Amino acid sequence: MDLLLALDQGTTSSRTLAFDREGRVVAQAQREITQHFPQPGWVEHDADEIWQTQRATLVEVLRRLGPAVRRVRALGITNQRETTLVWERATGRPVHRAIVWQDRRAEEACARWRAQGLQPRVQALTGLRLDAYFSAGKLRWLLDHVPGLRARAEAGELAFGTVDAWLLHRLTGGRVHATDVSNAARTLLWDLRAGCWSEELLRSFELPSAWLPTVYPPSHPFGELDPAVLQASDLDLPPLPIAGMAGDQQAALFGQACFEAGLAKNTYGTGCFMLLHTGARPAASRHGLLTTAAAQPPGQGAAFALEGSVFVGGAVVQWLRDGLRAIRASAEVQALAESVPDAGGVVLVPAFTGLGAPHWQPHATGALVGLTRGTTMAHIARAALESIAFQSAELLQAMHADAQADGATAVRELRVDGGAAVNDLLMQFQADLLGIPVLRPAVTETTALGAAWLAGLQVGVYAGLDELRALWRLQRRFEPRRSRDWAEAELARWRRAVRQVLAGVE
Ligand code: G3P
Repeated sequence: MDLLLALDQGTTSSRTLAFDREGRVVAQAQREITQHFPQPGWVEHDADEIWQTQRATLVEVLRRLGPAVRRVRALGITNQRETTLVWERATGRPVHRAIVWQDRRAEEACARWRAQGLQPRVQALTGLRLDAYFSAGKLRWLLDHVPGLRARAEAGELAFGTVDAWLLHRLTGGRVHATDVSNAARTLLWDLRAGCWSEELLRSFELPSAWLPTVYPPSHPFGELDPAVLQASDLDLPPLPIAGMAGDQQAALFGQACFEAGLAKNTYGTGCFMLLHTGARPAASRHGLLTTAAAQPPGQGAAFALEGSVFVGGAVVQWLRDGLRAIRASAEVQALAESVPDAGGVVLVPAFTGLGAPHWQPHATGALVGLTRGTTMAHIARAALESIAFQSAELLQAMHADAQADGATAVRELRVDGGAAVNDLLMQFQADLLGIPVLRPAVTETTALGAAWLAGLQVGVYAGLDELRALWRLQRRFEPRRSRDWAEAELARWRRAVRQVLAGVE
C-alpha cells in the first residue's frame, strides 16, 4: 500500500507526517522551534534550526516506518507563509534570521508605500494589502539594514525564498531554487492574474529580481530528495520525488476537499485563517479580505480564494497559559471557560500584533473591556475563547458581503481544523454566531494531508479529485442552536469593543 509524506513547517514547530492512501496518519514526529523576539513587534526564526528540526522529524518518521519506507511514493511540503529568508547561493548560508510573518518591522516601508499612493495598484495586481505581514516589506527592510546586501542581491549571489523554497533547496542538496504559486502569492510581488512576478511592483518597491525563485503550480515535480542531506545512511530509501508544495492555509483548503467555488474552511492555529474557494476567478474584496491563489490539481488552470487572516487566534490560549498563568496547559482552557455560563460581559480583543482582516490596523493594541468586581479568570478565559470565534465571524460576514456584491452564493457551511478546532465549546459558539453548520472532519491534520494529496496526485497515487472527495469524512457537525437575534446582540458587543480599540489608535 502506497504511503505519502508531508513536511509541515509551521510557526511554532516542524513536523513530518506519513499518510496511507486513505489519509490515515501512520507515523509522525514533531520538534518545536525557538521564537526570537529581538525587539517589541519583531519575530525571528533561525533558518538553520528550521531545516535541522525539519530534517530530524523526517528522519524520525522514515525510521518509524521501518521496511514500509520502501512504499513511500512522494513527499509534499507545506509551510508558514510570508516568512522571509535570504541565503547565499554558493554556500546555502542564510544572511539573516528568517523574518516571521507576525513581525511588524516592515510597517515603516509599508507606510511609505501607502503614502506614495501605491495601495490600489498593489491590491489590483496582488490581491493583497500594503501590510508588514507580507514578504516585500521584510525584503526591503533587509536591503536597507544589512550592509552590502543590495549589491550582492543584484549581482545574483543571493536567493530569496519563503520557508517552502528554503526546505526545497535543502532537501535537494541545494540544486533547486523554486516556490509554488500559493506561496508566491503571499509576497506582494506576484501578479495574480498574469501568473508571474510583477516587474512593476519590483520597481516600485526597489527590489531586485535576481534573487526570486522560479514559480511552479503546487502539484509539480519540484525535485528529488537527496538522501545525503538526511545524514542517515542506515535508511534504505526509494527515490523520493518532492511533488507537492503549498502554503499551509491553501494546503488546508485542499486537504478539506474544498476544491470548488463556494466551499470554505477555517483553521484555528496560531492565527485564524478562513479561506473561501472562488474557482477560476480571482474575486476582488471590498470588505477587507485578501485575494489569493488556491492550490489546484495537476493539469488544471489557476484557482483562487478569498482569505481572511486573523493574527491572534489559538495564540490567545497560549497567552492565558504563559502570559496570565491562568491555566497550566492549553487543554485546561475549555474546563475553565465552561465553569461559568457566559463571559459575564467581558470582551477580549486580542490585537497583540495589530488587527488583521477585516480591519487592517497595524497599530492597534489589545483590550479587555467589560470588567466588573465579579469578573473572574474563568470569565476572561471564556472571553478569550469567544474572541477567536468573534474574529472568525467577522471574516465570514465580510465573505458574505463580498459574495452578495458579486452575485455569488453565500457560504452554507464551514469546515474547520487546527489545534483549537478540537474545542467543542468554541465550535458550538462559532456555529451559534455564524448561523451555519460547522463541520469538523475525522482527520484534522488537513494542512499536512493537503500537501500529501498534492504530491499524491502528481505521482499518480490518486487518479483525481473525486477519489479525494470520497476520502473526506465528517467527525462532528455543530448545528447553530441560538437565534439570530442572540447572535446579533453578541456580535454588537464585540463590535463595540473593537471600535474602542480602533478609537485608541486614532
Ligand atoms: O500566514 C501565516 C500562516 O501561514 C501561518 O500559519 O499555522 O504556522 O500559524 P501557522
